[in-house]
Amino acid sequence: MTDMEVTIGSMPLRSPLIAAAGTVGSVHDFADLDALSVYGAAVAKSVSGEPWPGRPAPRLAPAGEGMLNGIGIQNPGIDEWRSAMPPPEALPVPVWGSAVGVTAAEFALVAKGLTAAGVAAIEVNLSCPNLEDGRMFALDPRAAAHVVGAVRTSTELPVGAKLSPNSEDIAAVAAAVVEAGADFVTLTNTVWGMAIDSVTRRPRLSGVIGGYSGAPIKPIALRCVWEVALSSRVPIIGCGGIRSGLDVAEFLLAGASAVQLGTVHFAEPRAGRRILGELDSYCRRSGVESIRELVGASHE
Ligand SMILES: Cc1cc2nc3c(=O)[nH]c(=O)nc-3n(C[C@H](O)[C@H](O)[C@H](O)COP(=O)(O)O)c2cc1C
Repeated sequence: MTDMEVTIGSMPLRSPLIAAAGTVGSVHDFADLDALSVYGAAVAKSVSGEPWPGRPAPRLAPAGEGMLNGIGIQNPGIDEWRSAMPPPEALPVPVWGSAVGVTAAEFALVAKGLTAAGVAAIEVNLSCPNLEDGRMFALDPRAAAHVVGAVRTSTELPVGAKLSPNSEDIAAVAAAVVEAGADFVTLTNTVWGMAIDSVTRRPRLSGVIGGYSGAPIKPIALRCVWEVALSSRVPIIGCGGIRSGLDVAEFLLAGASAVQLGTVHFAEPRAGRRILGELDSYCRRSGVESIRELVGASHE
């Protein structure tokens, strides 16, 4: 077997595969499938300071080969989340928390709660496209840095910033969050999109515009990884449309040190095992002994 261990900042991960936020529930929800052992980490669904009700139905719509969601980060708030959450140590994978909020202070409060709950790292979700007023911190380097700075001072854990493919200059946003203390960046969250039902003549999502995910967004996410890797040495986690071992290899070659699997879990909850096997086959065929040899190799 190929050496699959990777490092994200100070964190060694046994596998370059990470389960993406919102696609494996609380992570505990996923444990019964016995599918977690192939991941280096798993990110729990984003949680805010106060409970968020999310958007009314319909909140999901298939669109071509991908999927639109406009859930609006429905969650019970950090206090309820903590009381309902069994200890993360009970799981066969490091659990990362995902913080979301409408102010920097809310993000910091959530980060404190996640830290007390025992997560191994915190991903700051700056890129939710579904908030009521359309605000997205990840579009503005200064706003993004302000939030990451607040989270940085509220926890000793590794902090990552999850950015948006909708931003005008993702390398500038990445540089700003690194300056503010981010240990890694996750590239990326969903792409803005919409769908219309030609029979009802109405938008398919109650919130009209939602986040597009799945296979069609892979080239967009890959471009984001490439652009940030060109200008920064920050550890990058690639995310967007990955559904095969070769997709993972492409993200590593573009400059990611690890990847996240998202939408693929809905059709195939145990996709991680298949994808890791495919990645191993690719490495053996290509004479790659350690997965780390691939990281950034397309830039050489
Ligand atoms: C139904 C659904 C819920 C999601 N919820 C979250 C979330 O709570 N927090 C977050 O940071 N990203 C969330 N995402 C985004 C995914 O983690 C991932 O970044 C995105 O879907 C792109 O990857 P993919 O194409 O592999 O799905 C969600 C995606 C989907 C499809």
